Amino acid sequence: KSIVILISGRGSNMQALLKAKLPCRIAAVISNKTDAEGLEFARKHGIQTAVVSHRDYSDRASFDAALAQTIDGFQPDYVILAGFMRILTEGFVKRYYGKLVNIHPSLLPAYGGLDTHARALHDGVKIHGCTVHFVTPDLDHGPIIIQAAVPVLSHDTEKTLAARVLNEEHRIYPQAIRWLCENQIELDANGRVVLHRHK
Ligand code: GRF
Repeated sequence: KSIVILISGRGSNMQALLKAKLPCRIAAVISNKTDAEGLEFARKHGIQTAVVSHRDYSDRASFDAALAQTIDGFQPDYVILAGFMRILTEGFVKRYYGKLVNIHPSLLPAYGGLDTHARALHDGVKIHGCTVHFVTPDLDHGPIIIQAAVPVLSHDTEKTLAARVLNEEHRIYPQAIRWLCENQIELDANGRVVLHRHK
């Protein structure tokens, strides 16, 4: 199996995936930003990189078409979003149904969208976390592959909570992609994820 990883910035999840020695080929790391810090790390690890800048396109549809063309050039089995900060069109998402995976810094379906840690702190929830899921046109609502929970502590700030969650992101994302590449994951008729070993 082979994967491409899409990033927009820091790329710490991408780094965790690269370090995990997954049972698949990492065909490329693609960014929508030329200056994404993660690109340098990928290059140093001998991974091919590409940039498709959203600024070069007048609308989402034409950007997504260019992005899809670049992705397809690498013929990946899975497309892994790792801090990729662009909303993708329905056409793009449908084209990669069952192949497009994202990590989100909350326990979905709670706190889809942005500023998840600040919102969790504001609400005073005592448990927070992260979710790896398949991407569907419904933003942050696709079939869940794996989640990890962390406690919210009384002295937490957005920064300390984000760091605790990120630690778990770096653990569960490689786990999820490993399962995918080992064919351990199935989407059932209801669009829910079944892990073979739990069948
Ligand atoms: C992570 O918290 C991820 O869950 C969210 O954006 C952040 C990306 O961080 N979608 P990084 O670029 O992987 O370091």
